[in-house]
Amino acid sequence: MPSVYLETYGCQMNVADTELILGHLAAHGWRPTTAPDDADVILLNTCAIREHAEARVLGRLGELARFKRRRPDVRLGVAGCMAQHLRDKLAARVPDIDLLVGPDGYRRLPDLLRADAADRDPHVGLRLDPDETYADLPVARAPGVRAWVTVMRGCDRFCTFCIVPYVRGRERSLPGPALVDDVRRLVAGGVREVVFLGQTVNAYHDRDWDFADLLRRTAEIPGLLRIRFTSPHPSDMTERLIDVMGTCPTVAPQLHLPLQAGSDRVLARMGRDYTVAAYDALVERLRERVRGIALSTDVIVGFPGEDEDDFAATEAVVRRTRYDSAFLFKYSAREGTRAFRWEDDIPDEEKGRRLRHLIALQEEISAAINRSLVGTEVEVLVEGAARRGEGWMSGKTPHLKTAVFPGPAAPGDLVHVRVEGATSHSLIGGLA
Ligand code: 5AD
Ligand code: SF4
Repeated sequence: MPSVYLETYGCQMNVADTELILGHLAAHGWRPTTAPDDADVILLNTCAIREHAEARVLGRLGELARFKRRRPDVRLGVAGCMAQHLRDKLAARVPDIDLLVGPDGYRRLPDLLRADAADRDPHVGLRLDPDETYADLPVARAPGVRAWVTVMRGCDRFCTFCIVPYVRGRERSLPGPALVDDVRRLVAGGVREVVFLGQTVNAYHDRDWDFADLLRRTAEIPGLLRIRFTSPHPSDMTERLIDVMGTCPTVAPQLHLPLQAGSDRVLARMGRDYTVAAYDALVERLRERVRGIALSTDVIVGFPGEDEDDFAATEAVVRRTRYDSAFLFKYSAREGTRAFRWEDDIPDEEKGRRLRHLIALQEEISAAINRSLVGTEVEVLVEGAARRGEGWMSGKTPHLKTAVFPGPAAPGDLVHVRVEGATSHSLIGGLA
């Protein structure tokens, strides 16, 4: 049996795509291996969202190219967003690459990897296909309490900074009833929590189902304890969706709500079609209707033209929204996007200063929110052993906070933990 070694970079969508690739290849006689030394094929499933992500993969490709010179029979492939983004430029920089396959090319992988496929058109794996959902392909999911389920692929929003619509193509949703059946099977196999995934997950629509319908139908599955989803777009947060979140106990009271910037001028230039006032109003509606909802966000600092006032406006939104956590990024110019044509005019040191400032602020807020939980009891879905020490277990609260505690408890248990300590990243306590 030929073997494949796969490394994954980037977001949760890529982790899910790796499970899809491995499932599909397994059905065609490939065996996964955990060491490159044993592999017939080495694949990197890559990310193109920021330059740093591509630089990491380039570094790794340099190492693997050297490895390949010692083992010329091994084939080296690049899959995912960076393959789609850089195409021939990638193969020119790393001539040892045998194969490029983009996010819509995975169905062809068994074919592309056939030993006699050397004469194939090198671009066939890079064709974007607006109808490809992989709905019929098997997924080799890592066993565990939580499963990630891709419900839509691609993005139609074209935010001016973002490479995703170019490398992942147009938005398309998987069939709703089949998704509900998939989740039912996962639950029968021991899964207790699902996370629905999509680039703009709440833009999901299949026939007469929108995302709210998908959540409601999935929530009816007996034995499923929690549903989460990521990442939504603020403009697709419909009243129906907020309603399901507020009334359906299986839908976790937690939402990742990317802000990107807190200044209307910057938001407009980013092509985000909401204003700060509309975002604030959405947060207010969510807080009113989804009791105790935990919010997290994404923010980019140093977008072209972002001045001190713009940045101060972003800081003000972070301060008043009091996110439970935030992913904060320096703007990274991506070739092919609209913003790439604008001068990347904020010096890197200034981006760094803004970033560090926001990180420090968010750490303070996260720590304060978590400390306010000391003395309370939280419900924890146990996932596995914690690194903290012998017998310690780890799991998540409904608000997606990591809680660690000394057992006994088993993965899949729903336990109550009395919180005794907190950091900006986790809660520590004991069984209540
Ligand atoms: N530079 C910096 N951050 C980016 N993101 C997307 N594109 C860029 C870019 N060019 C961030 C956004 C998005 C998250 C997944 O990555 O905040 O929500
Ligand atoms: Fe990128 Fe915007 Fe689409 Fe998100 S909504 S994937 S930030 S283009």
